[in-house]
Amino acid sequence: MTTSSKAAPKKRRRSPANKPVHEPLSFVDQFRGAAPYINAHRGRTFVITFSGTLIKENHFHPFLQDIALLHSLGVRLILVHGARPQIDDRLQDFNVESEIINGLRVTNDEVLLCVKESVGNIRIDLEGAFSTGLPNSPMSGANIRIASGNFVTARPLGVRGGIDYQHTGEVRRIDTAAIEKLLSGGFIVLLSPLGTSPTGEVFNLSSEDVATSAAIQLNADKMLSLIEGGELLDQKKRLLRQLTPDEAEKILNSRRKLPEQMARHLISAIHACRQGVPRTHILSSLQSGSLLQELFTRDGIGTMISADHYDEIRAATIEDIGGIIELIQPLEEEGILVTRSRELLEIEIDHFTVMERDGTIIGVIALYPYHDQKIAEIAGLAIHPQYQNSGRGEALLKHLEHRLNKDSSHPVERLFVLSTRTAHWFQEQGYDPAKLSDLPVERQQLYNYKRNSKVFMRTRNRA
Ligand SMILES: CC(C)(COP(=O)(O)OP(=O)(O)OC[C@H]1O[C@@H](n2cnc3c(N)ncnc32)[C@H](O)[C@@H]1OP(=O)(O)O)[C@@H](O)C(=O)NCCC(=O)NCCS
Repeated sequence: MTTSSKAAPKKRRRSPANKPVHEPLSFVDQFRGAAPYINAHRGRTFVITFSGTLIKENHFHPFLQDIALLHSLGVRLILVHGARPQIDDRLQDFNVESEIINGLRVTNDEVLLCVKESVGNIRIDLEGAFSTGLPNSPMSGANIRIASGNFVTARPLGVRGGIDYQHTGEVRRIDTAAIEKLLSGGFIVLLSPLGTSPTGEVFNLSSEDVATSAAIQLNADKMLSLIEGGELLDQKKRLLRQLTPDEAEKILNSRRKLPEQMARHLISAIHACRQGVPRTHILSSLQSGSLLQELFTRDGIGTMISADHYDEIRAATIEDIGGIIELIQPLEEEGILVTRSRELLEIEIDHFTVMERDGTIIGVIALYPYHDQKIAEIAGLAIHPQYQNSGRGEALLKHLEHRLNKDSSHPVERLFVLSTRTAHWFQEQGYDPAKLSDLPVERQQLYNYKRNSKVFMRTRNRA
């Protein structure tokens, strides 16, 4: 931090607990918060694709600086650029007509010339931009080496629906051996939407095709697509943070009309995921820094399409008690959950199941069985407010029910819950109103008449 020598030195504020206040708290906190991601991303292979429109934006240089930062942190990077607006400009300059049919450009000889010129210019400009290293600039000392070459083998798209796409092609093969060698040598690899064929022809490709093929064939850990098409929102206009490929496909097939670019990238993301790329991300390129925010913060900023379960549900351990207290304390204070002391939690920790997301407890549920009566109580269900209403409560409850189903040594035929404010939610989960007298006698004796909770019960299918 710098201070003006003329200004009177400010008194340091102190916290009520007389602890020194760390002034750049947010920066330090954020940097510390990024540490697990820095460790997780080091040595990983990411394919990052961005459009020709982003190249024209003011924040393109900060974006390249973010790329340089990722490289410095040990991420192995393959960049795939688009070129559509640059090609359009070129076509216009030379008065060349070009048709886009089903989202694909028909590339005749004249169009191909414009494509080659535009892509060539972008490549050279990108190489130049990555060579910047002026003192005191963010790229100072980065020493980025960038490699591009004939890594993409293409084949013609051919005639489809009666349309001859001519020099428009699709990816046939990626030279993974050459790319791997360059990545290991510390290069960033730059791929353009152009490919060559064994016959020596050049084909105009879509950058999504190049990126997806590269991510799949290189067994990349992530594919990140920066697009202008905004964010992927649900019907209530909330950002969809995570989707499985099936969920993403449902959105594509729904009546909802997605912006064309979003739809194309969603299709690529689904394909990449199904072909083994563990995580694909779609982020808005309109916001500077979105790449770093997606990669180094817990919730990210875009939509992640991932086949794996991001939220882990597991039995709680004594180490989780701090996280559980953080989650349930506000609900206890509101009277929604029954208060449990830390000591009681320690004693009863084996009854708890938690949902964890990137090291944070975001959901909890407890089960208290009365084995002799084949009945069990569900208690303490809570989902972190930031994560509510996206099916997690239901997932946690179902997980518990499923686990009980599998445990044949301790059959449980009825599950009950005492609730003050969640009656409808439990009813929607198949729990019916029940009487206090339906509960085990020992539980009836503990009933708190002041709380006046309602009883809900589910008789489980014994099959
Ligand atoms: C109740 C709770 C566990 C549900 O978890 P969740 O992950 O948010 O819920 P789901 O995503 O599975 O279900 C969402 C649906 O349930 C509804 N819902 C959420 N809380 C509800 C409640 N208290 N009563 C009725 N419906 C409720 C939502 O409106 C949503 O319905 P919609 O999609 O039609 O709009 C969660 O909201 C929570 O932690 N609440 C505070 C603690 C609490 O009440 N615990 C229960 C103690 S017995």
